[in-house]
Amino acid sequence: MSKSAPPPGTSDIFPDEITAWLELENTARRIFPLYGYGEIRTPVFEFTEVFQRGLGDETEVVQKEMYTFEDRGGRSLTLRPEGTAGVMRALSGTEAMNGVEQRVFYMGPMFRGERPSAGRRRQFHQIGVENAGKAAPELDAESIAMLSRFLNEAGAGGFELLINTRGVKEDRGPAEAALREHFAAHIGDMCEDCRTRLERNVWRILDCKQECCRKFIDSAPDAASLFGQNSRDYFKRVCDMLTDLEIPFKVEPRLVRGLDYYVHTVFELTHPALGGQNAIAGGGRYELTVPGFNRPVPGVGFAAGMERLLIVREAGGVAVPAPAVPDVFLLSLGGNARKFNAKLAESLRRAGISAALEYEEKSMKSQMRTADRLKAAKVLIVGDSELENGAAILKNMADGTQKEVPFAEIGEVLAK
Ligand code: HAM
Repeated sequence: MSKSAPPPGTSDIFPDEITAWLELENTARRIFPLYGYGEIRTPVFEFTEVFQRGLGDETEVVQKEMYTFEDRGGRSLTLRPEGTAGVMRALSGTEAMNGVEQRVFYMGPMFRGERPSAGRRRQFHQIGVENAGKAAPELDAESIAMLSRFLNEAGAGGFELLINTRGVKEDRGPAEAALREHFAAHIGDMCEDCRTRLERNVWRILDCKQECCRKFIDSAPDAASLFGQNSRDYFKRVCDMLTDLEIPFKVEPRLVRGLDYYVHTVFELTHPALGGQNAIAGGGRYELTVPGFNRPVPGVGFAAGMERLLIVREAGGVAVPAPAVPDVFLLSLGGNARKFNAKLAESLRRAGISAALEYEEKSMKSQMRTADRLKAAKVLIVGDSELENGAAILKNMADGTQKEVPFAEIGEVLAK
């Protein structure tokens, strides 16, 4: 435990850990463009309204988890708890509003004031994708296929894909009535929050994680079977295409997801290597309302939690790539050699060879220890006699062999 720890639920990521993160990011940057997606970067904070309107006032995230603050100009801003609302706010300035498909992906930190636990952070990172502008079941299935491909290539295979339909808003009446009737009969034994949810948004009850509510959720009516024909046909086309693409899935009738913007398809991918927080990724089709617009933008997308991807990779024994080490350590014996090496280091780096050296007066033994600690592949020794001869001694750290290399040939020999 470091003496100066960062705030609870946040972490520092050190150079020996970053290589695994970069692998995830590079995998995303390799896979998503194959499907026509380009990378987008949006601010880490937005006007609070973007999330309030976008995610829904009744959601746990908006009600309890947002980091909201007032800036010096009296504006209410919020650190993004997820990526979709901000990305759609950005895309509201594009042709997405006129039904022209926009394909973007993003990666970066998200912030939720949750109780920190294994796999649940206050600052966590997502890799996400949004396809905005159009609505079609094939786009939903393609998005799931891409996510599945990404997870497999990112070393996080072995997940389970759960999918469900939320129907469209106009279609939910009968299902909503059936759910309300069911939960009303048990509400006395359910949690405080569910009592409010029963009044304000009964669907949110299906997403309750409280033990006392679980059994009533499990016995609730299957909402999707009460949706209209159009919603059911839409969902069938998604499932049929997944079957055609040979992507295994399980229909989970209780899956509603924690954000209110979803319509039609919702999905979550869980992994047995994760504990209680077992969702490695989630997403679905949505209709998201951006402030300043009176009709929502349609889209489909997902986000995967990077911390959870890393847990799954580690549990699966995926090797962490070694961090970069210096190609050469320039060992200086005396002040003149140090001056010479300072210049040599710069010219080597200019030629793309990574070089490390010690600027303080240190013994040969101490400098060798530093070269060892840095895991330098080679050590180049320069002292007064080498300066006189115009040749340095190059030691190969792997086998201990040494040879003399004329100064003029150092770059060439090291580049080999
Ligand atoms: P979400 O399910 O809230 O969806 O988050 C997606 C993923 O982010 C989760 O499956 C999980 O891996 C990770 N995650 C969420 N909260 C935390 C946390 N506190 N600590 C660590 N990891 C976490 C969304 O955010 C939607 N925007 C996904 C989406 C995109 N839907 C449509 N487009």
